[in-house]
Amino acid sequence: MPASALSRRERFALTVRGEETDRPPVWIMRQAGRYMPEYMALRERYSFRDLCLNPEVSVAASLLPRDLLDVDILIIFNDILIPLEEMGLTVEFPGGGPEIVDPPRDEAALGRFRAKKFHDPPVAASLRLLRERTGDEFPVLGFAGSPFTLLGYAVEGKMSRHAHEIRGLMLERPELVHEMLRRLTDTVVSYLVAQVEAGGAAGVQIFESLGHILPAWEYEQFATVYTRQVIARFREACPDTPVAVYSRGAAACLEAMDSTGADVLSVDWQLPLAEARRRTARTLQGNLDPMVMLSPEAVEPAFERMLDGFDWRRGWIANLGHGITPQAKVEAARRLVDCVKRLAGG
Ligand code: CP3
Repeated sequence: MPASALSRRERFALTVRGEETDRPPVWIMRQAGRYMPEYMALRERYSFRDLCLNPEVSVAASLLPRDLLDVDILIIFNDILIPLEEMGLTVEFPGGGPEIVDPPRDEAALGRFRAKKFHDPPVAASLRLLRERTGDEFPVLGFAGSPFTLLGYAVEGKMSRHAHEIRGLMLERPELVHEMLRRLTDTVVSYLVAQVEAGGAAGVQIFESLGHILPAWEYEQFATVYTRQVIARFREACPDTPVAVYSRGAAACLEAMDSTGADVLSVDWQLPLAEARRRTARTLQGNLDPMVMLSPEAVEPAFERMLDGFDWRRGWIANLGHGITPQAKVEAARRLVDCVKRLAGG
């Protein structure tokens, strides 16, 4: 079979296993979002919560990157903070970033911080519908926040630059923090398994988006230990489904990410891919600087620089090094997809 006859699902599966393909698969972190006028049109008609919880609306958002960018991988539209509501917290999405009402910061709050077991959550219904609509052509990803990243957002309450609340709690009440992380670990495992068993996700991604705020020792004790458990327990239930872990600050924690057992390590834009390859044999994902999406003309040279000294022929999923921003240009995202597809000819 000529390599160009690979379906998107086959290319994804081969790449995850580190085998050679015609070209890498490409998708964009936070690919359905406010940089797209079509997404803004959906947001005028529906609340963010509807976009996450109503399968029809969620699937409409999930399909925008297929229709507008021709990416190879779809991710179900949702948000990492939604499962916190199922644990007992109140999450609001007022527009300027999500907010947790009355953030859990003491033992008394454990009553609204209960481990949740999922069987068929709304995200699974959305995944089923998305697979129905795409005729199984696309690998569709489910996702969750890592226990530590979810705890960070929960305890801070709203986006904060220095995360003083969670850092302080870790220093003063480590046992409380570990109890919350254990509950989150149970919740995240069950949420990911449901997305595969009930939703049919072809892979899952865990977002360790707050990893970069911790020194190595705390990263191991409070983040990696739990992400490693999530992956081990997920594997017991879903041994054939690949897992990707994204971490900010990958340059400092790539070996820790590797030790989680994830199949794919998704790295931020500050770690050169060639260096990442010297430090891990696992499939890599990333890592163009999201700011390059501000300028379509900048995409091709930045793409070339990203691949300097890096063998893209195996074990690489092309992506950004973090989420695309509302200021990004759709044309720049298209050019990134084009750059990846042109690799097949060369
Ligand atoms: O196509 C996709 O990939 C979109 C699905 C998606 C969203 N959030 C939608 C969203 C995914 C995969 C996420 C993950 C997510 N959510 C992360 C991990 C990735 C990362 O960026 O590090 C985190 C930390 C969150 C929490 C969150 N949700 C924040 C910090 C914000 C506000 C920041 C922002 O981008 O506005 C959200 C809201 C959110 N989640 C929006 C979208 C499209 C914007 C809300 C809106 O439309 O009003």
